[in-house]
Amino acid sequence: MTIANYISQILSRSSWIRRMFEEGTRLKAKHGAGNVYDFSLGNPNLEPPHEFKAALQQAVMNSAAGLHAYMPNTGYPHVRQAVADYLCQEQKMPLTANEVIMTCGAAGALNVILKALLDPGDEIISPVPGFVEYTFYAGNHGGILKTVPARADFTLDIGAISAAVTAKTKAVLVNSPNNPTGQIYSEESLVKLGMLLKNKGKEVGHTLYLISDEPYRKIVYDGSKVPGIFKCYPESIIASSYSKDISIAGERIGFLAVNPQAAFKAELLGGMALANRILGFVNAPALMQRVVASIQGASVDISVYTRKRDLLCDGLADCGYQFVKPSGAFYLFPKTPLPDDVQFVQALQEELILTVPGSGFGGPGYFRIAFCVDDSTIINAMPGFKRVMEKYK
Ligand SMILES: Cc1ncc(COP(=O)(O)O)c(C=O)c1O
Repeated sequence: MTIANYISQILSRSSWIRRMFEEGTRLKAKHGAGNVYDFSLGNPNLEPPHEFKAALQQAVMNSAAGLHAYMPNTGYPHVRQAVADYLCQEQKMPLTANEVIMTCGAAGALNVILKALLDPGDEIISPVPGFVEYTFYAGNHGGILKTVPARADFTLDIGAISAAVTAKTKAVLVNSPNNPTGQIYSEESLVKLGMLLKNKGKEVGHTLYLISDEPYRKIVYDGSKVPGIFKCYPESIIASSYSKDISIAGERIGFLAVNPQAAFKAELLGGMALANRILGFVNAPALMQRVVASIQGASVDISVYTRKRDLLCDGLADCGYQFVKPSGAFYLFPKTPLPDDVQFVQALQEELILTVPGSGFGGPGYFRIAFCVDDSTIINAMPGFKRVMEKYK
């Protein structure tokens, strides 16, 4: 064996996802990409907004000296200031550039946060269904992701989180709006979670952090609001990015922000700046930092995703699928009509419909549909969704 046992194990654990991806490639080659309905990836299909393109052109034309050089590991001070100014409004709390670090996407932010927090064997608690990569991110830094079930409507089960806390727990990691369920956690539940972490922290004798992964914060429907985490608990850290809301996932730009009231703020930020460097990110991409600084608050036209969500939800409801209508993000997580979600997803594949089994997200008995696709994909896949439902209901 040439590669590490740990990596080898991860590869085999996620092999069914790879098989699905390979199956998708095979189906597209055989039937033509246009005849395969691919709902498998959360890769935004909308183009970035015009503000982004204008800011990018301006940034590229700037020929001042030193614009492509190394910078502080935390990012350009003026960019961090712009992000802090925006967060002040969003979180309804005064924030400075010192509390913000620019990162390589939300994934980079999460890895920097976990690198700074975890000793070997430390535990991170996270609700499932949830983002599959969290397990690997915790493992990257010697940590263990301990999953706890969400409630039936995918809201937080505070009792389950409480029962999972041990002396090894370092943080709870939540993602709202959620991938794969589209659920948004209420302010009330986040305040309760904050209270729990405060009390349990006293019990275990160390600070318990609340990490909030929020790359879908701006993608919300029907007037839903995503509560600011900073007001809910002082020991909180935000990881976010511009990947989803301005459709620039390939540009790898995001940020982390530490609650200004956090007790060990200076140590946390110092550790995270170092982590950004030694994980090999060094700093977030320079050009993209300059671009996002000038378009804080911009997003793609969310009404387009609302239309796609409604098209999908109305169509699937007519076919007899059961689901919680998502309040945010661009995923739907319906129940499979048979217990084996992998078998159900394979049946959809026979109709050239690519989705992901819920088991991959810690949610067996469900499957995930990423609806960041053309309207025509949703419309043309519907007869196939209906045939498969009729076969199993
Ligand atoms: C819940 C969640 N967190 C983090 C990420 C990573 O986002 P980024 O591209 O900003 O690294 C994703 C990407 O799909 C995600 O769904």
